[in-house]
Amino acid sequence: MAKVLVINGPNLNLLGKREPEIYGHETLADIEHSLVAQGKSAGHEVLCFQSNAEHELIDRIHAAMDEGVAHIIINAGAYTHTSIALRDALVASGIPFTEVHISDVHAREAFRHHSYLSDVASNVIVGKGVKGYAMALEAVINNLTT
Ligand code: DQA
Repeated sequence: MAKVLVINGPNLNLLGKREPEIYGHETLADIEHSLVAQGKSAGHEVLCFQSNAEHELIDRIHAAMDEGVAHIIINAGAYTHTSIALRDALVASGIPFTEVHISDVHAREAFRHHSYLSDVASNVIVGKGVKGYAMALEAVINNLTT
């Protein structure tokens, strides 16, 4: 059994209410429940964390180092485009991670085109809607079992 940590950054607590034409109608709680179930059915533990505060996201990544987390799935929200500190924390942790974005960031405003995470991520899933989280977890599970 492996541990997979799912981290969501700023404003993703508003999923379901926030710009549903872009981010859909599912809430973060719905998404987290189904990821936990998906992990469990494959024999793995999925831990979930959301924060709007950059330092809390960094602290959670640091804590994951002592918890034996095998993989992080992260939607860092707008910090994707701004936070060298978050990138540094992920690299420092040595934990492989998948970057997820619900929307197609490359088809949106120019300031969303650059990610501080993509070049150090082991996988990037963009523009698949909230299904992107399940796709990310499925790929992680397949890798863990091969
Ligand atoms: C997002 C895309 C980001 O540009 C934005 O700031 C978000 C959500 C996405 O999931 O599509 O908060 O990461």
